[in-house]
Amino acid sequence: LTKRWNINDNINGKQAINEAAELLKSGSTVAFPTETVYGLGADATNETAVAGIFAAKGRPADNPLIAHVATKEQLKKLVSILPPVAEKLIDQFSPGPLTYVLPSNGVCATNVTAGLSTIGVRMPSHPVAQELLQQCDLPIAAPSANTSGKPSPTTAGHVWSDLEGKIAGVLDGGPTGVGVESTVIDCTQEIPIILRPGGVTREQLEEVIGSVMVDPALANTGDKPKAPGMKYKHYAPEVPLWLVEGSLQNVVDEQRGKVQRIGVMASTETAASIRADKVISLGSKQSLNEIAANLYDALRTFKEGDIDLILCETFPEQGIGQAIMNRLKKAASVYVPGK
Ligand code: TXA
Ligand code: MG
Repeated sequence: LTKRWNINDNINGKQAINEAAELLKSGSTVAFPTETVYGLGADATNETAVAGIFAAKGRPADNPLIAHVATKEQLKKLVSILPPVAEKLIDQFSPGPLTYVLPSNGVCATNVTAGLSTIGVRMPSHPVAQELLQQCDLPIAAPSANTSGKPSPTTAGHVWSDLEGKIAGVLDGGPTGVGVESTVIDCTQEIPIILRPGGVTREQLEEVIGSVMVDPALANTGDKPKAPGMKYKHYAPEVPLWLVEGSLQNVVDEQRGKVQRIGVMASTETAASIRADKVISLGSKQSLNEIAANLYDALRTFKEGDIDLILCETFPEQGIGQAIMNRLKKAASVYVPGK
């Protein structure tokens, strides 16, 4: 049976986090909110506990997990070297939505790193995650708390619908803020490399450390991505998704008669004038942050048997738009270029 704690209330919240921490210390898996998406946690030093994460999610064993810690001191206990560039990034962006890939010192179980010599480490800023990590006083391995392949969960309800009955509990802290996962940056190279675009933008990183690179495989070169998880098809909604660069309405009209019911995901401005069977507004074009925050919930809103095809607008690949478009391209089966 999966426990669900509502922690919006402060006093009972502490108690709930305490119970969750005890479960984690005893080797169970518990989902918790972070500022990006909900994570599914387990004691990162306990191989059997970590195996429970892979089993609950149906996650491929070759995809390493991120170790979550509360402080820089705890982070240092998991790595053999902390290069100056990583230290600079930590001081500027942690706690926050940035994951550092660093040389592992082997303190975490081998299934956390999927046998790699490096480890991904992150300090989440969400107050519930912070409190939980402090109470455990352990590194907590935590991938996104979804069934492998599905969109990451941004509410406890999303976690529940994927993992109820498969994990010990869910701490419900309401919707997460950022809405897309952390940026993963490889700090083992002379010039750091973005392996996954996310909550901290390339522009923000460059302001602090000068030039950063982006894993060329992210631009669909056919190369093998440096983050093992980036090679998988991800974020798939229940029905096919087409990413449409040009006029959405033209494609809706073209597909009428070929498919039964057409759904649309678009900015509020575009959604206002679209005629389709179901239209979900992601937020204003003026705020890519709002669009990121609503993206995964929107992908989960279209259900099989209700909608047969989803058409989604494209967004500028700047700032958080890089993460939005990376996820949409992975979720989409067809890309319709503009004319
Ligand atoms: O925002 C987030 O990062 C969320 C919350 C829960 O913290 N977590 C998350 O974890 O998105 P997950 O497991 O869904 O994605 C982790 C990504 C995967 O693409 C994985 O391959 C990559 O990070 N990764 C982890 N460790 C790595 C390593 N040592 N080297 C390269 N890539 C690594
Ligand atoms: Mg994930």
